[in-house]
Amino acid sequence: MRDMQIPSDHPLLLQIVDDLAAHGWSQQNIFLPEALTLELAAECRERAAEGELSPAAVGRGSTQEVREGVRGDHIQWLEAGESAACDRYLGLMDSLRQALNRGLFLGLEDYESHFALYPPGAFYLKHVDRFRDDDRRTVSAVLYLNQGWLPEYGGQLRMFLKEGVDYDVQPKGGCLVVFLSGEIPHEVLPSTRERLSLTGWFRRRGDDPF
Ligand code: OGA
Ligand code: MN
Repeated sequence: MRDMQIPSDHPLLLQIVDDLAAHGWSQQNIFLPEALTLELAAECRERAAEGELSPAAVGRGSTQEVREGVRGDHIQWLEAGESAACDRYLGLMDSLRQALNRGLFLGLEDYESHFALYPPGAFYLKHVDRFRDDDRRTVSAVLYLNQGWLPEYGGQLRMFLKEGVDYDVQPKGGCLVVFLSGEIPHEVLPSTRERLSLTGWFRRRGDDPF
C-alpha cells in the first residue's frame, strides 16, 4: 500500500468534501508539507532537464493533437513506484479519493495525474476537464509546486464559477485546488516565470466493458 495515507476523516479532507458538496470546488492553501512540495518541485525540474516532459496534447484518442495556441504546458504522466515523493503524493490523493467516496458517494475508482511545467508565456485557454466522448473524469485536483510565487508573475488559475463570477487562484507551493471536472470551466493565465504543478483527475468506472 502507498506509504502516505492519512485517515479519510482527516479534517482537511472533510473540509474539501464539504466545500465540493456546497460549491463544487475547494481551495486548501496549506495542503502539502513544505518539504514534500520542495521535493516534488525538484523532481519536476529534474524530469524536465532530462527531457522527460512532452508538449501536452488537447483532446483524446485519434483527435489528440498538440496545439500551443490552446495549451502550452509540458507534462509527464505519473506511475506508482517511480519515487518516494511521488508515492507519498499518490497516497495522499488516494486518501482524498476515499474521503470523496465516503462523503459524496461518487464511486471514484482511480486517479490519473501528471507533472505540468508551463514555460514563461505559456497558458491554457478556457476549457472543462471532461472529454466529449468520455465522462469518467469526475473530480479535478491541481497541486502547485512554486516557492515564493508573487501575483505579479501571472499564472493564476481562473475559475468561472457561475455567470459573471470568476475567481483566481495563485499557484503557490503547497496549495491544492479541487473541483468538479464537468462543471467548472477554467483557464491558466500566462506567467512570466516557469510554473510547476501536479494535476490529476479522479475517475469513475466507464461503461465500456473492455
Ligand atoms: C489542466 C488545468 C490548471 C492549473 O491541466 O487541465 O486546467 O492551474 N490546469 O494548472
Ligand atoms: Mn483543466
